[in-house]
Amino acid sequence: MGQINMEEQLKEIIKYFSTRLTSLFLTVEDFQQLLNLAVNVPENGRIVEIGAGAGCSLVTMAAASKAKTRGIELITIDLFQKANYLEYGYNITKESALDKFLENMKFWELDVKLLREHSALAYKKIEDKSVDLLFIDGDHQYAEIKADIINYSLKVKDGGILCGHDYQKCHPGVVKAVDEMFGKNFQVFKDSSIWRRN
Ligand SMILES: C[S@@+](CC[C@H](N)C(=O)[O-])C[C@H]1O[C@@H](n2cnc3c(N)ncnc32)[C@H](O)[C@@H]1O
Repeated sequence: MGQINMEEQLKEIIKYFSTRLTSLFLTVEDFQQLLNLAVNVPENGRIVEIGAGAGCSLVTMAAASKAKTRGIELITIDLFQKANYLEYGYNITKESALDKFLENMKFWELDVKLLREHSALAYKKIEDKSVDLLFIDGDHQYAEIKADIINYSLKVKDGGILCGHDYQKCHPGVVKAVDEMFGKNFQVFKDSSIWRRN
């Protein structure tokens, strides 16, 4: 798929989720950066995400990497247990959050392995050094995201990408954990809150 088609597809993804969520999980720049990060995942590679939510990020990474046609495995981890998803721009309760996620995966025809458990347990099911792209967007509290970074960095292949969402003032836990774990060895993309380890 050429660059123009990819841009068109990104527009379709944003349009799809804009009509289904009260507010999007990702900004347009976030979508764009995520697309740039996923585009080079190798054939038969593996993408892992912590925090499936509505599936905005997963659909974007799948489209950018052409997961369906290039044999890329998609694994996402989510408890789907919050009492109220309003803070995530999702006007539904935990009873329907999972259904909505699955509905979105069906629409985009994605074959996804969902690990419906706490990220602090799920990482044990993923082999070390097996992941080409790891996207962290689960619990945004300091201790929890720090634990996610520690546990999941072991899972990333040498040369693979470790990145996440919400490096911004309104998520001080993310900022503190990322600063502490990587020092100067990370970047935050312009006009976006997506960060990646260098
Ligand atoms: C911000 S939302 C993710 C948004 C998603 N990336 C998207 O683009 O639609 C965070 C999600 O992480 C899940 N979550 C939070 N802490 C978790 C944990 N420790 N383990 C597994 N899932 C968790 C929540 O249930 C929620 O659905």
